[in-house]
Amino acid sequence: MKILAIGDIVGEIGLNTVERNLRALKQEFEIDFTVANGENAAGVGITSHMARRLYTAGVDVITLGNHVWGKREIAQFLEDDGYILRPANLADIAPGRGYGIFSVKNKLLGVVNLIGRCDMNFGPDNPFHCMSRIRKEIAQHTNLCVVDFHANATSEKAAMAYHMDGQVSAVWGTHTHVQTADERIFPKGLGFITDLGMTGPMNSVLGIRPEQSLRMFRGDVPVRFETADGPCLLCGAVFTIDENTGVCTGIERIRREG
Ligand SMILES: [Fe+2]
Repeated sequence: MKILAIGDIVGEIGLNTVERNLRALKQEFEIDFTVANGENAAGVGITSHMARRLYTAGVDVITLGNHVWGKREIAQFLEDDGYILRPANLADIAPGRGYGIFSVKNKLLGVVNLIGRCDMNFGPDNPFHCMSRIRKEIAQHTNLCVVDFHANATSEKAAMAYHMDGQVSAVWGTHTHVQTADERIFPKGLGFITDLGMTGPMNSVLGIRPEQSLRMFRGDVPVRFETADGPCLLCGAVFTIDENTGVCTGIERIRREG
């Protein structure tokens, strides 16, 4: 089974890039299932209309992160739609769900979305204990499971990979918008990359117009951040997973201009 994971899609330019390229990319890599982080599709947050555009483009499941409530209208959509996940370790009273089990190639695949706690301005539950609980629930149905861990600290993401090695097929990081060149398979068969990177404008500071980011860091009067334009990157990774054992047998990083 080949799973494509797409890094944080930023703004209209990122959405357009997915719409233009995803079908061909899926064909090229013979992808069976696609998971994309969409929490920056509206810059901050995502709307139901944007989520539907991603489904139409070929995304199977959308994951989110710290900007989950950036567009408040998404709360109802999170309740109504089974293919968009918010971090599982948010409070139980939060709308939506943090994991799902989906049908892929006559098998069942668990997909989990978690948020980290290091340097994040949220007060979520412990993602490690949360993941252990979810793994037990998913294991009643399938041994195939992948995790988007939306987190800032490289250490927290690597620790999660060790925590889940031998229990899930893959853990990938999102949130930093910078792709890391550290994809590897852990001793018990878990595929891991610290961060998938960004699907957004190349000439930017993490997707934002450079001059606006510079203003902030220089201490000028701040302005409302806007997504940059120009050439766009699509970043992610392809995980090849043995459908019978759940072991990851290969990871290929994707970094495409277009
Ligand atoms: Fe984020």
